[in-house]
Amino acid sequence: MDLFQLDSDDLRSLRENAPVHRDEGTGLWLVSRHADVRAVLADPGRFHPDNALTAITPIPRPVLRVLARAGFSLPPTLANNGTATHAALRGLVAGFLTPARVRALRPLIAELARERLDALTGPVADLHPALARDLPAIVLLAAMGIDDVDIPKLKAWSTASLELFWGNPSPERQHELAGSAAEFHQWLTRRIRAARGADLFGVLRDVPIRDAAGLCYFLLVAGQETTTQLLCAVFDAVLRDRELWARVDEPGVAEDVVEEVLRRDPPVSTWRRIAAEPVVLSGVPVPAGAHLLLMLAGSGSDPAVFPEPDRLCPARPNARRHLAFGYGRHFCLGAGLARLEAAVVLRETRERFPSLRLASAERPPMLGLLSFRAPLSVRVVLHADERLAV
Ligand code: HEM
Repeated sequence: MDLFQLDSDDLRSLRENAPVHRDEGTGLWLVSRHADVRAVLADPGRFHPDNALTAITPIPRPVLRVLARAGFSLPPTLANNGTATHAALRGLVAGFLTPARVRALRPLIAELARERLDALTGPVADLHPALARDLPAIVLLAAMGIDDVDIPKLKAWSTASLELFWGNPSPERQHELAGSAAEFHQWLTRRIRAARGADLFGVLRDVPIRDAAGLCYFLLVAGQETTTQLLCAVFDAVLRDRELWARVDEPGVAEDVVEEVLRRDPPVSTWRRIAAEPVVLSGVPVPAGAHLLLMLAGSGSDPAVFPEPDRLCPARPNARRHLAFGYGRHFCLGAGLARLEAAVVLRETRERFPSLRLASAERPPMLGLLSFRAPLSVRVVLHADERLAV
C-alpha cells in the first residue's frame, strides 16, 4: 500500500478489514475508523502529538547539516507540543483568529476573489494558480497583521517544506528542499528579531527565538497551503455535481458544500500521534511508543457515522462531526477562517461564472504527500458570454 497515494478504496478496505493496521514499510499504525480516530485525538494524556511535524522520509546527515547550519529547528510549539507551554502559545495565535477578526476579513476575501475571477481570460483556465494559490496566503498575512511579504517566495518556501516533511523525496531533492526550508526559517528569525508592532512577529517578542521561529514556520505553512488545497478540492468536487453547483447561490449552500468536502475529501488527509502507553483500539493491542497515522480522510467516509458517505449531501445533519480539523486540545485554530474563505470564494465564483464547468471529467493529478492530498489543478471552461460580461 502506497501511503502517499491512498484513495477512497484503500481507505474503505482499511476501515472494513484492518481498522488498526501496522504498515510494514514505515512502521506507522494506520487508524481509520471514526470512533478510534476521535478517541485518540480526544485523549492527549495517552496520545502525544510530538511526532506531528517529524519528516516521514528520514533526512540524511548531510541534509541535516544544511538545516543545522541555518539554525533550523522545530521545537514543540503548537501542533507538535504536548507540554505545558502549548496553551499560552496557542492563546497568542488565537488572539489573531477570534470570530470577530475572521468575520472582518470577509470583504478582503471577496475582493481578492473578484479580482482573480475578473482576470480569467479563458476559454480554459486552471483555478489552482488563477484563484486558489495565492489568495489564502494574502488573507493569512492580513489576519496576522503582517505586510511586505513576497507571496511567490512564501509559496515556494511552503510547498518545499510540505514536501520535505511529508513527501518521499530523493536525497538530492531533500538537499534542495532543505535549502529552501532553511532560508525560510532564517527569514522568519530576522523578521521576529526586528519586530516592533503588535503583529504576529511582534507578539512573539518575549518568546524564546527558536520557539517563535518554529511556531511561525508551522503557522505560515499550515495556515495557507491547506486552504489552497481545500479550494481546489471544493471546486473539483462541486463542478462534478451540476445539481449542487446550480444551488451554490442559495443561502447557506456554499457553507454546507464546503463542510461536505471537508468531510469526504479533507486536504489534511492524515495526522500523527504517539501512544504513550499500551492501548487497545478496535480490539487491536497497540504497544507503547507506537506512531499512529490517523486517517482523517477515511474517518470522514465511515458509514457508521455518515450514511452514504461518498455522496456530497449538503443537508447532512451531522456534517460537522468530521475530523478534518482534528479534535480536542489541538483543534485547528484556523478552521473558521478556512471555512469562510472557501465559502466566499465558491459563492463569488458561482456568481461570476454560473455556467462554469470542468474542462475534463478525468481525475486531476493529485498532491501525494503523507498528510496532504488535493487536486493539483482544476481546469475549467469559462462560458464565452460570461467572459465578455465583465
Ligand atoms: C482547510 C484548511 C485547514 C485544514 C484542513 C486544517 C487542518 C488541521 C489539522 C488536522 C490540525 C491538527 C489538529 C489536531 O491535532 O487535533 C490543525 C492544527 C492547526 N491548524 Fe489547521 N487546518 C486548516 C487551515 C488552517 C488555517 C487557515 C490556520 C491559521 C490561520 C490553521 C492553523 C492551525 C494551527 C495553529 C494548528 C495547531 C493548533 C494546536 O496545536 O493547538 N489551520 N489544522
